[in-house]
Amino acid sequence: MGHSVQHVLVTGGAGFIGSNFVRYLLRRGVPRVTAYDKLTYAGNRASLADVEDHPGFRFIHADICERADVAAALRGCDAVVNFAAETHVDRSLLDADDFLRTNVVGTHVLLEQARRLGVRRFVHVSTDEVYGDVPEGYSRETDPLRPRSPYSASKAAGEMMVLAAVASYGVPAVITRGSNTYGPYQYPEKFIPLMITNALEGRPLPVYGDGRQMRDWIHVEDHCAGIEVALLRGVPGEAYNIGGGHPRENLSVVREILQILGLSEDLIQHVSDRPGHDRRYALATDKLRALGWRPTIDFPRGLRETVEWYRRRRDWWEPLRDAAFAEYYGRNYGGRAVLKGPEHG
Ligand code: NAD
Ligand code: TYD
Repeated sequence: MGHSVQHVLVTGGAGFIGSNFVRYLLRRGVPRVTAYDKLTYAGNRASLADVEDHPGFRFIHADICERADVAAALRGCDAVVNFAAETHVDRSLLDADDFLRTNVVGTHVLLEQARRLGVRRFVHVSTDEVYGDVPEGYSRETDPLRPRSPYSASKAAGEMMVLAAVASYGVPAVITRGSNTYGPYQYPEKFIPLMITNALEGRPLPVYGDGRQMRDWIHVEDHCAGIEVALLRGVPGEAYNIGGGHPRENLSVVREILQILGLSEDLIQHVSDRPGHDRRYALATDKLRALGWRPTIDFPRGLRETVEWYRRRRDWWEPLRDAAFAEYYGRNYGGRAVLKGPEHG
């Protein structure tokens, strides 16, 4: 199958969405795909095991903040999709230094080298969290950015560098703003895989506050398809929302997981809330739909398959719940009060 991009550099290609996107592009017939990844705690070569032998695949272990490494990797690439980032809100609340370095400076370095080498297409993968809390209605791409966590602020700052590069130098970059994503190969600190893996180990499921916060879940395959459409048909300087259209309260997601696993809701433990916790995100997606994209995986099916995947792939996630994970877990959850009372079920 012919594809109009020939060689894509996927930064953050050993992370959750990046590794799924590498697989997605190879399946779609892109002849060459290079994953470029620093392999932080969240990066994992094992997530790429099934493409390592593909003749069109190459892996580069490097940092997007390193200009020379980026320049060397970009040679021969006609497109860049930037997934590389520090991505966990709770970690950004503990220490935001790496978030600024990778999400802002790293984005700048990539843009500079893409400009110098004349890359034809650049997608910067951002998040719906840049809009901040959305008590009602649906965020549109023209809405103001009101990030409220160090993570979302660093992502918004990265977007500003992208827009500056488009306006100042004509870098052909587009921005995507995806909603909360789930599916295989997601690091177990994130909400859905944390709840699944804790449940599989019989540990308590820590729900922040009342659990009534709302997220718009999208399956990683639908997210990848949306990014591909933005890559091929997006207009430089424009942002595109990619939302699943499956709004759910956190507590109901946890209940669905327990139901699929046939486990008791007694495992649910309400704990003190995340500071500055955004109650709700929700996206209007007409802009990307007008380019021919739509999500296809409904949430109950996607969640069932994801639970099934984690049940089958203990070989993938058990090694990740290591001493460093336990140390982070202690820092993030150790100081939280366990909430009791009727309002917390
Ligand atoms: P992830 O944490 O699983 O993966 C991030 C990857 O980036 C890791 O492999 C890590 O090693 C790599 N990385 C970190 N710093 C790097 C650096 N300096 N140089 C090179 N590589 C580096 O994250 P994810 O969930 O796959 O998210 C990917 C992108 O999508 C991020 O930009 C994130 O902001 C965005 N996003 C994620 C979601 C979601 O729900 N997961 C939703 C919307 C947008
Ligand atoms: P998360 O996966 O961290 O994504 P984000 O905060 O970027 O949306 O969390 C998703 C939701 O789940 C969010 O409302 C916070 C909540 N949450 C919990 O209730 N308990 C947890 O242990 C975690 C990690 C998240």
